[in-house]
Amino acid sequence: MSQPHLRTVVVLAAGEGKRMKSALPKVLHPLLGRTLLGHVLTAAAPLTADRTVVVVGHGADQVRAHLAEIAPTATPVLQAEQLGTGHAVRIALEAVPETAGTVVVINGDVPLLRAETMAALVAAHEGDGAAATVLAAEVPDPTGLGRIVRGADGRLEQIVEERDATPAQRALREINAGIYAFDSARLRDALGKLSTDNDQGEEYLTDVFGLLGSAGEPVTVHVAPDHTETLGCNDRVELAALRRLLRDRVNERWMRTGVSLLDPETTWIDVTVALDRDAVVDQNTQLRGGTVVGGGAVVGPDVTLIDSVVGPGATVLRSHAVGAEVGAGASVGPYAYLRPGARLAEKSKVGTFVEVKNSELGAGAKVPHLSYVGDATIGARANIGAATIFVNYDGVDKHRTTVGEAAFIGCDTSLIAPVEVGPGAYVAAGSAIAQDVPAGALGVTRAPQRNIDGWVARRRAGTRSAEAAQRARESATGGASAAREGEAIHDRAEGGGPASGAGHTASD
Ligand code: UD1
Ligand code: MG
Repeated sequence: MSQPHLRTVVVLAAGEGKRMKSALPKVLHPLLGRTLLGHVLTAAAPLTADRTVVVVGHGADQVRAHLAEIAPTATPVLQAEQLGTGHAVRIALEAVPETAGTVVVINGDVPLLRAETMAALVAAHEGDGAAATVLAAEVPDPTGLGRIVRGADGRLEQIVEERDATPAQRALREINAGIYAFDSARLRDALGKLSTDNDQGEEYLTDVFGLLGSAGEPVTVHVAPDHTETLGCNDRVELAALRRLLRDRVNERWMRTGVSLLDPETTWIDVTVALDRDAVVDQNTQLRGGTVVGGGAVVGPDVTLIDSVVGPGATVLRSHAVGAEVGAGASVGPYAYLRPGARLAEKSKVGTFVEVKNSELGAGAKVPHLSYVGDATIGARANIGAATIFVNYDGVDKHRTTVGEAAFIGCDTSLIAPVEVGPGAYVAAGSAIAQDVPAGALGVTRAPQRNIDGWVARRRAGTRSAEAAQRARESATGGASAAREGEAIHDRAEGGGPASGAGHTASD
């Protein structure tokens, strides 16, 4: 945007937001990836203001801390007592006495305003050489809002708060959106003349329009193209309604850029997320923060991704990921939990009921079932058997485990860190590995198996297990008469045949 004028942006964010009934100041409530204040500042960013002032009051410390994070160049100015929007702007301008050019004032609780609308308002104001311009909208329900009162010639006469309005004025459906552009000198002058002669006993910024208008200064109205942009947020019901509107707006934008959303009503994408063309998002999915999804990837149903990157062609199904990277063509879930530092290289797999934290999986490596992988480096094409646990914590410190390329870890293994399994090594199922396994070796820690014949009949007599064992023995020995309590079965092939079930073994 060309910048013929000096510009100052003033955001009003000192109010408590009583109706939110919250310990959090209203402007810090989150809405799809940004706070209300964050949305407003983002919409104002293309104005390339020389200065941005944020009026803080309720929860000033929290709001200042948030500002330092999201807009460190903005200047917070304290309004210790909230004596009205006019008072707030007066205090803001007192803090920046050198201000000249255009002053754009934005209520901190109008988060759906588009940058384009803000820019159009300011361009119209500067183009017309107006003293003051207000953003207005025709709304279906104007309850609680200031009304735009126009004269017979259609020009703005004044802005009247609902509580101060006559019945005829209340019937007007053109409202003040709470976004304005002013000529700074004339604004300053009018702010000095505000009265508190109204129902709330406050200094109303909106009275500036009546004052300037009756002094013959040009005051104008800029009508927003889409009234939903001007919706404010005064309680949590309104916040939820704004969230749905913003969700629909975000989802529509992604669908128009070539992303498939299979159920847009249950898909919640933060404004900060990026999706590539031909990504597919299935239902009940939340994509939050700095999440990025590559082209051809399929995410969902039932997935939450927070600050996570999913590569092209990957699939993530019924899973939760925070701070994770999923490589191209990799597969996650169903029911996986990827925690910060989980990095899955291309075509790797993290399957069902697997948790991964601060670990790298090499290309094509697989952890298909029921495992915990913490603080590990797993080589390319390694296979980690079901129920393998990377034992990373000794109660005091965390330690790393390394599994080499194409190593094979049998099911139900504990890898007790720090430990290393070399490339191409095997670990026998059920092992507890606390010493390194060299490349190509088999690591095994199992004790030899011992079967104690007749133990169940002796020690668990009368149980259903004992009865089942008795029946098995009878059919193996060809009849009840041959079976004696406690007798060991040495030869299952003796008597009976496959038809009697005796030919079946435990591995069938
Ligand atoms: C205001 C407008 C109303 C408009 C509506 C749009 C006035 C007098 N009225 O009403 O015409 O239709 O916004 O949403 O301006 N604030 C301060 N300090 C104060 C008072 C308010 O910083 O002393 C901040 C609040 O935090 C909020 C913004 O100003 O972000 C607007 O205040 P709010 O009390 O919500 O005004 P409304 O009654 O909604
Ligand atoms: Mg309000």
